[in-house]
Amino acid sequence: MDRRKLLENPYRPGAGHIPPFLAGRIDEQEFFKRVIRQDNPTDNILITGLRGFGKTVLLSSLRAAAEQDGWLWVGNDLSESASLTEERLALRILTDLSQAMANRFASIESGLAGSSVHAPHEADEQRASDEQQLFETLKGCYETSPGLPSDRLKSVMSRASSMAARARVPGIILAYDEAQCLCDHAERNEFPMSMLLDTVASGQKKATVVPCLLILCGLPHLLNALTETRTYTERMFHVMRLDRLSRDDTWAALTRPLSRMMPPLYASPKLIAKVVDLTNGYPYFIQFFGKELVEQLLRNGGTLGDDEFPSTETLDHLDSGLFGARWNNTTNKQRDFLRIVASRGQYAAAEFSAQEVSTLSKNYGDSEVSNAQATQLLQALCERGIVYRTRHGFYAFTVPMSDEMILRRLQSEEEVVKSWQEPPPPKTLRKKATSWLWFT
Ligand SMILES: Nc1ncnc2c1ncn2[C@@H]1O[C@H](COP(=O)(O)OP(=O)(O)O)[C@@H](O)[C@H]1O
Ligand SMILES: [Mg+2]
Repeated sequence: MDRRKLLENPYRPGAGHIPPFLAGRIDEQEFFKRVIRQDNPTDNILITGLRGFGKTVLLSSLRAAAEQDGWLWVGNDLSESASLTEERLALRILTDLSQAMANRFASIESGLAGSSVHAPHEADEQRASDEQQLFETLKGCYETSPGLPSDRLKSVMSRASSMAARARVPGIILAYDEAQCLCDHAERNEFPMSMLLDTVASGQKKATVVPCLLILCGLPHLLNALTETRTYTERMFHVMRLDRLSRDDTWAALTRPLSRMMPPLYASPKLIAKVVDLTNGYPYFIQFFGKELVEQLLRNGGTLGDDEFPSTETLDHLDSGLFGARWNNTTNKQRDFLRIVASRGQYAAAEFSAQEVSTLSKNYGDSEVSNAQATQLLQALCERGIVYRTRHGFYAFTVPMSDEMILRRLQSEEEVVKSWQEPPPPKTLRKKATSWLWFT
């Protein structure tokens, strides 16, 4: 029988995919558990890190801990709503609140009444109708409260807090992922981030019936955006800056799932150490290389020589997965510019400025750019999500190891171009000629 059918690949590379073994992140989880067990907690949490560092996965583990303690988790991913206005964010929160409360009430009801009372489809209908009713109630509260959207949202939160208390919920958590999309737009007179912070801070000052905590998750510049929003924001949050994992944690994340497959698979300690080095401790790469290793082991009859991994296809998959979509949308000018940034060498600082790249570009002939052009290119690359602004005038890649991926991409593209420029070997030419003849 095919071994592949017997063995399921356990690694899960992909945005927000729960890994087979969540390594590290212990302090973060312990801190959170301590917070929700306090009497009147006010520690909001900010989780930041580059793409693929495990922010969404950590958020899911905090959710599991909160729900185990009975807290109501109200949250969403804001990546699709880049142009959020105050009204739209308020509507988002009303919708998320009613959904979370309807789910909670449904589970309380089925717990009290026993699961046999409603057939599954009836329970779903009941839940949907409760959600609609809750939404109407909260929307009514929002619309009839006086003041600005932030005043009205405060009334909604205090109403939700009373409802939660009646359902014996110990607290509410508002959790928003990809929260860099919430940044204020002063030029459009829209301040969704300020509205959210103001609502939560005011509830925490007044001590509403049940406590409400805010968790925001996003790319590192979220912290700058928050600091620009309000002067005391840093004090409002406990910041968790996710870094890559330690060597021991990386080893554990890679080997725990693998050891369950050995035998029949076999990977030597030297090969495993090589894969650990390849990942550099970046969580996404652990899942990616883990998955590729298992696939290659399966294809190769269960074992592999130390120098047979990674195959060229593995590196191709890597470049097209995490990085490919963003790269494919870049213009030739942007690619020339990225080559300069990526060629700074492995010991270069993670940050770079327009000035630095413009100076380096003088060594690249046709790709030379002025300081102003470099600034414009960096802004365009920020919009494409390839780089982000670390601080005033400085930028860094959003995806770890982007430099290597860019250079590999450019090299393989150049090889394709070269293959078309070189005259084909005579044998191929004769073959082509016959096939042309055949077609005509
Ligand atoms: N602590 C961890 N241990 C092992 N794998 C992890 C860990 N954290 C994240 N991952 C894996 O890394 C990948 C990216 O995680 P994700 O939470 O989507 O990152 P982010 O939200 O920071 O972009 C996923 O495939 C996930 O399974
Ligand atoms: Mg994420």
